[in-house]
Amino acid sequence: MNGPSIKEPILELRNIVFGYRLRKGENIRIFDDLSLDVKYAEFIGIAGPSGCGKSTLIRIMAGLIKPEKGEVLFRGKPLKKPTPRIGIMFQSPALFPWYTVLENVMLALIHEKDLSENDKIERARVFLDMVGLTAFESAYPAELSGGMKARVALARALVSQPDLLLMDEPFSNLDPLTAISLRREVESLWLNQSMPPSSVVMVSHDIEELVELCDRIIVLTKRPAKIAGVVEVDLDRPRQRRSPEFYKYVDEIYTLLS
Ligand SMILES: Nc1ncnc2c1ncn2[C@@H]1O[C@H](COP(=O)(O)OP(=O)(O)O)[C@@H](O)[C@H]1O
Ligand SMILES: [Mg+2]
Repeated sequence: MNGPSIKEPILELRNIVFGYRLRKGENIRIFDDLSLDVKYAEFIGIAGPSGCGKSTLIRIMAGLIKPEKGEVLFRGKPLKKPTPRIGIMFQSPALFPWYTVLENVMLALIHEKDLSENDKIERARVFLDMVGLTAFESAYPAELSGGMKARVALARALVSQPDLLLMDEPFSNLDPLTAISLRREVESLWLNQSMPPSSVVMVSHDIEELVELCDRIIVLTKRPAKIAGVVEVDLDRPRQRRSPEFYKYVDEIYTLLS
């Protein structure tokens, strides 16, 4: 029902221990011993109280932060640093204001040594087209609406054709209509097995958004974050928010959060 059925992990977090050290010498414990898997072709959601460590978790999954203890395995191998095989979309699009839309997307290909400049332009255009921004490739970020900036960020996260897409509250700053259309785009991209990404991890505080999109939702406790529960959503796609079955899942997640 939900895309390919190869149920092996693409990403494994094993016994992750992590804390932030503050200048005062204080240490904020974020994870004491956290383990979880993301499988191939899976769309995973992460929910949890504000400040529990969701964004930190995304950064650990991306190889941007090294845990103090424990292992991060990507496709079975230790993840030592960020890789173009893992795309990231942050809450704020963080585009470079002095580069055009096209150049912002091309920047994600900077380490692809096998691609010529023209290859990079073509590839970036394919993904700009996919998010409906072909007409804006020469525009600068300041000329774009919030929704358009989010589309650029999505194109940039996907242009390296990652196997795994990580999204940290990607739709939370958008107006409701833009959020609806971007959610649909991400879902159909993920459902299209011939295109990357295979798997998606999305952090959100919008529980209905998680139930609409995710196969499995991991609910975290407050710091140090542990898994409060995992909810598997068994509903046909596209999911109808108004159905009673839908709200059963929403309630289940709220119960785990409280
Ligand atoms: N770079 C940092 N240095 C120190 N503390 C941080 C840093 N980043 C986040 N924190 C703290 O760690 C906790 C978890 O942050 P975060 O992962 O952003 O949580 P969430 O995304 O779930 O809201 C918060 O209390 C936050 O203030
Ligand atoms: Mg966060």
